[in-house]
Amino acid sequence: MIEQNPVKWESMRKALRAKIGSMLPPDLRERLRKRFPADPSAPPVGHVRWGDLRRTAPISRNLWDRGLPIDRYYIESFLAANAGDVAGRVLEVKDNTYTRRFGGTRVTNSDVLDVNPANPHATIVADLNAAGNLPGNAFDCIIITQTLQYVFDVASAIEELHRSLKPGGALLATVPGITPIDQELRDSTYWTFTDRSMRRLFEHHFPLTHLTVVSHGNVLSAVASLQGLSVDDLRPEELSPCDADFAVVITVRATKP
Ligand SMILES: C[S@@+](CC[C@H](N)C(=O)[O-])C[C@H]1O[C@@H](n2cnc3c(N)ncnc32)[C@H](O)[C@@H]1O
Repeated sequence: MIEQNPVKWESMRKALRAKIGSMLPPDLRERLRKRFPADPSAPPVGHVRWGDLRRTAPISRNLWDRGLPIDRYYIESFLAANAGDVAGRVLEVKDNTYTRRFGGTRVTNSDVLDVNPANPHATIVADLNAAGNLPGNAFDCIIITQTLQYVFDVASAIEELHRSLKPGGALLATVPGITPIDQELRDSTYWTFTDRSMRRLFEHHFPLTHLTVVSHGNVLSAVASLQGLSVDDLRPEELSPCDADFAVVITVRATKP
């Protein structure tokens, strides 16, 4: 029996396709290329069935009106996986929802940081753009979810967060990759990120042995997120595969030696 090697057959198929293509007149080659895409599982050009997604405005602009937003699935899965870090004196931005939810009774002190002095939950009002505003070597854990995109001087913010972490403390950060911009925060939204930019920014302060940067999401969940869909619009097996070329959220766990 002849053993079939799928990789070999695929490269032979591609080579044959290129060879036949090179022998055809250019206009016929172009028509065939559109009718028969290189990937046999892809619909021919012009035959994609867009259905409900054929619209130039998203299905929803309100992040929460269909349920848990897609990015929150990845953010909360990351925090659940690292819940053991949420202990002792914990700093979170805006409110302490995740401190309480993932730290529970392990948390001895809960602080909330905000640049906005009108935030009633804030125990520390400080701007992460400037150095020296946070207490030094103070926190066992810092939870900074979906915030660094609003800080123009993101490198200074990471330096400041590192300075305020206790030796042995853990920083849990999430940032957006492919994302819609929150209408309410459009004027203060500066960045989206990649796993590369996160690694470069954090490795400046944290040794690579103490740093884990992971991309979450895939092309389907990225499209769903851009359309304002929720986790209930997708199946679990559609949310969980991660393709770093289509990151919806990038997570960083960094510990201070
Ligand atoms: C969308 S919330 C993110 C935090 C929230 N816990 C979450 O998970 O969605 C963004 C928060 O970052 C704060 N913020 C924006 N720029 C900041 C800065 N330069 N320094 C400190 N906080 C800032 C905003 O005021 C807001 O409370």
